[in-house]
Amino acid sequence: MSATIVPENNLHYPVLLKEVLSIISPQNGGTFIDCTFGQGGYSKKILQFPKAKVIAFDRDQRSKLIADKLKKKFKDRFEFFNRKFSEIDNIKTSDQIKGIIFDLGFSYSQIKDPSIGLSFNHKGKLNMKMGLNKFSAQDIIKNLSANELEKIFKYYGEEKHSKMISKKIVKERKYKEILTEDLVDIINLTKKNYTKKNKSTKIFQALRILVNNEISELILGLSKSSNLISNNGVIAVVSFHSIEDKICKFFFNEISSLRKVSRYLPINNFNDVSFNLIKKKPITPSITEIEKNAPSRSAKLRAVKRSGTNKIDTGFIFQKFKFLLEIEKITSKL
Ligand SMILES: C[S@@+](CC[C@H](N)C(=O)[O-])C[C@H]1O[C@@H](n2cnc3c(N)ncnc32)[C@H](O)[C@@H]1O
Repeated sequence: MSATIVPENNLHYPVLLKEVLSIISPQNGGTFIDCTFGQGGYSKKILQFPKAKVIAFDRDQRSKLIADKLKKKFKDRFEFFNRKFSEIDNIKTSDQIKGIIFDLGFSYSQIKDPSIGLSFNHKGKLNMKMGLNKFSAQDIIKNLSANELEKIFKYYGEEKHSKMISKKIVKERKYKEILTEDLVDIINLTKKNYTKKNKSTKIFQALRILVNNEISELILGLSKSSNLISNNGVIAVVSFHSIEDKICKFFFNEISSLRKVSRYLPINNFNDVSFNLIKKKPITPSITEIEKNAPSRSAKLRAVKRSGTNKIDTGFIFQKFKFLLEIEKITSKL
């Protein structure tokens, strides 16, 4: 579930870059939306092709510093918005959108920044806000009930020890503010058996997903993209954990021609428009890429190509993942 890390030069290593480029074909020109600009790894490559334009989004305002430099170089071909990609439909352009890319999760600079507190290796206040957030991980740990915490850890972290960990948090917080290192201690004391992954991975994943509303962001992003992408355009998603991949796989399978008779889509949705899976199975990094950048091993790339121009009704995806979306509502009182 972790993102893309290259320790040598402090730069984010864009995962599956070659594969993404070969799917979206920027060499032929056109307008592309990079929904997760980060350090600009994908955008910079696309802009190397003289007829290509990029509209980029990132919720983290630190990305704007990198984007500003790119804007100086590519004035008319690059635009950056410090917004969440769930607002992708707010862009004002008459261009045909040839490709929309999502490289989900967090960047190297974000995981390395102790003030964001995404990593269980850091010490200090719990935070996890990537930008444009309403509440932090500390607000969750401090204010939600044991039952609510359990639900979050169980469904967003797929953590087997959710109940015990939640109870211990509620007990511990009566005496002191729970900092990152305290949460790690609670998890380590609860999960005594050896695990291959760091014991804190799942709980930290769950908190990050909730703090950044990652479920609704992804569902809205995909749903809006499917009606924004032009005829023959491609939507490509690189995901890092099983919940993201499950949502993406389901959505792409449903809208693709592989399942013409969908249980979720009205039949007439397919009269004028269909999507085709670029590949049935997800594309994963090569051994060479994993050797260069170990965290890329959990990356999965899925993509669909659109044919047709009519709008499709995407209500089915909100229905399918209603339960995960409902969990976000727990935070309405924060
Ligand atoms: C894995 S990094 C992308 C790295 C980028 N492809 C590169 O090569 O530099 C993910 C980025 O997506 C951003 N992000 C995550 N969720 C977002 C959302 N809902 N809307 C906009 N940006 C988001 C994060 O702030 C982070 O910078």
